Amino acid sequence: MAHHVTADIDLGNLTQNVETLIKKVNGPALMAVVKANAYGHGLVPSALAAKRGGAEWLATALLDEAIELRNNKVPGRLLVWLNTIDDQFSECIDKDIDLGVNSLESLTAIAQAAKNLGKRARVHLKVDTGLGRNGVTLSDLPNLISALKQEQNNGNINVVGVMSHFAYADEPTNSTIGEQISNFKISVDALVDANFELEVKHLSNSAATLGLPDTYFNLVRPGAVIYGISPGPEVGPAADFDLRPVMRLRAPIILIKDVPAGTGVSYAHQYHTKSETRLALIPAGYADGIPRAASNKGPVQINGKNFTVSGRVCMDQFVVDIGDLSANVGDDAVLFGDPANNEPSVNDWADAAGTINYEIVTRIGPRVHRNYLNG
Ligand SMILES: Cc1ncc(COP(=O)(O)O)c(C=O)c1O
Repeated sequence: MAHHVTADIDLGNLTQNVETLIKKVNGPALMAVVKANAYGHGLVPSALAAKRGGAEWLATALLDEAIELRNNKVPGRLLVWLNTIDDQFSECIDKDIDLGVNSLESLTAIAQAAKNLGKRARVHLKVDTGLGRNGVTLSDLPNLISALKQEQNNGNINVVGVMSHFAYADEPTNSTIGEQISNFKISVDALVDANFELEVKHLSNSAATLGLPDTYFNLVRPGAVIYGISPGPEVGPAADFDLRPVMRLRAPIILIKDVPAGTGVSYAHQYHTKSETRLALIPAGYADGIPRAASNKGPVQINGKNFTVSGRVCMDQFVVDIGDLSANVGDDAVLFGDPANNEPSVNDWADAAGTINYEIVTRIGPRVHRNYLNG
């Protein structure tokens, strides 16, 4: 069956990226972050590819994602951290899914679910060491520690980990990094002093995994880099770290037509042809995750030649002025792929849309067919 838009997902590259990162950190284990449908790459196949590369741990943001992994028989240690307080906790505990604790309320709900089930929940305390987002502040830490102690003594939980997240890891010289590391060490010490036996301490996202060895502790927790995308310009291109892009996005031309100079193209005629030319219609739009903000800017490669989107990106389609290019209906337009093969990159699309590469890949929508390669 022909697909309108296809994301080729090179699972071999994903596995290799994980192997490369494990070699780089040289000692600590790796937790592959597969939240948000594995950053748009497909949850279960990506998780399995990461495991083949040696990821001992997997992590998701949402309970549903973690449950989906278990329902698909994905084994091994698995953490979920952005927990709503609801009745899925029992299912998670039953399925050996570790849970992040970010407040007294979440601890109480997890402990209650564990008690009802008659099985201890494995929990990781999430500390806000300076991001100013999720997690327990340092001033609330003593309260949390006594509550954790009580629930552990009651047989409802085991505290197995402590975690935190950086505000500025993609700016490796930023002064908050040192402060966050030192706050993290204070939190680890407080838990150890309270006699918790921590299996894992984890702080390093992608940028920290690539550039900040002081943050490794005994587990690193990268997302973006396992998919071969760079966490930011200051860290450098992913290729500099031998990481390869996993996703390549393409769609076939479904119509080519000759038009005269001065033809207005797509909604509101934001593009006019400069001379007699040919227009190619590509069946990919913002409903597929192609950013409308990249209208008139997004790069597209057809038969080895680079163009940009002509006019507005619509819900399901956009147009490219291909001039005198020799092309046929059915030829692929490559939106992004491997820049090492001279294809446009995810970063090019992020620049065109005024956003970051993370947003481009995670928004590739459910209508887009994932074509798994090298699995
Ligand atoms: C708590 C936490 N840890 C790790 C990650 C992975 O970050 P990155 O994709 O930059 O490696 C994220 C992603 O947003 C996160 O929220």
